[in-house]
Amino acid sequence: MRLEGKTAIVTGGASGFGAGIVRKFLSEGARVMIADINGDAAQETAATLGPRALPQQVDVSDAISVQAMANAMTEAFGQLDILVNNAGVTHLPTPLEDVTEDDFDRVCNVNMKSVYLTARAFVPAMKARGAGAILNVASTAGLSPRPDLNWYNASKGWMITATKTMAVELAPSGVRVNAICPVAGETPLLKSFMGEDTPEMRAKFLSTIPLGRFSTPEDMANAACFLCSDEASMITGTALEVDGGRCI
Ligand SMILES: NC(=O)c1ccc[n+]([C@@H]2O[C@H](COP(=O)([O-])OP(=O)(O)OC[C@H]3O[C@@H](n4cnc5c(N)ncnc54)[C@H](O)[C@@H]3O)[C@@H](O)[C@H]2O)c1
Repeated sequence: MRLEGKTAIVTGGASGFGAGIVRKFLSEGARVMIADINGDAAQETAATLGPRALPQQVDVSDAISVQAMANAMTEAFGQLDILVNNAGVTHLPTPLEDVTEDDFDRVCNVNMKSVYLTARAFVPAMKARGAGAILNVASTAGLSPRPDLNWYNASKGWMITATKTMAVELAPSGVRVNAICPVAGETPLLKSFMGEDTPEMRAKFLSTIPLGRFSTPEDMANAACFLCSDEASMITGTALEVDGGRCI
């Protein structure tokens, strides 16, 4: 029960890594808001997880929607201990000059602007209380980029820098900020990274992961739980690779 009595928001919590993080946080005693643009999926996920799981429809790239999520959090939980910025999107594998402006804007707004909007909504209260943990779900793409995912890779590199600069600025206020960098994982998003889900493409991706398997929501959940718990009270500004050795 490493998160007993804590409150958390997990954005993109209705699918993939986010849903894994939600399940882990609940099993460790937290109350968790499942915040997702897919409100139906958030509700369905929450319904299977018991009364400490709370669904919330949100578009993390939209200021008004993020503020509404913050208001709902205050009403439900009073205060927020843990914020997980997990919601993310990619463009399909495409030569960098051919990615459409719409796709570029979508990637920037969901993967980057959301970190600013949630910081604006939640950091003031964390600073005032002198406590809080923020976790950004970045990617190995931000450390060791693959071709054809250029603007997605760059958004995750931005997220890693945002993690470090937030960490150093917020440390005197007692707020910790970390990131995890997942390698390719078994989630609905995987197909978008590969372009096509074929045995050949899977073998190509797997060949770059020394431990020889895709990551799972449980892998991310275990790392997220540690970094957001008091066990990691001396850790801030790190971007932890959860990647089976991919970035070595
Ligand atoms: N799966 C991988 O291979 C992989 C690897 C490295 C990093 N990541 C990162 O992990 C995070 C989670 O990815 P996943 O693989 O679990 O994806 P996923 O598609 O399974 O889940 C993402 C969730 O985010 C939600 N979402 C999308 N846009 C949103 C928005 N504007 N507002 C609120 N919610 C929104 C979706 O509805 C979905 O439920 C992402 O940030 C992704 O970039 C994934």
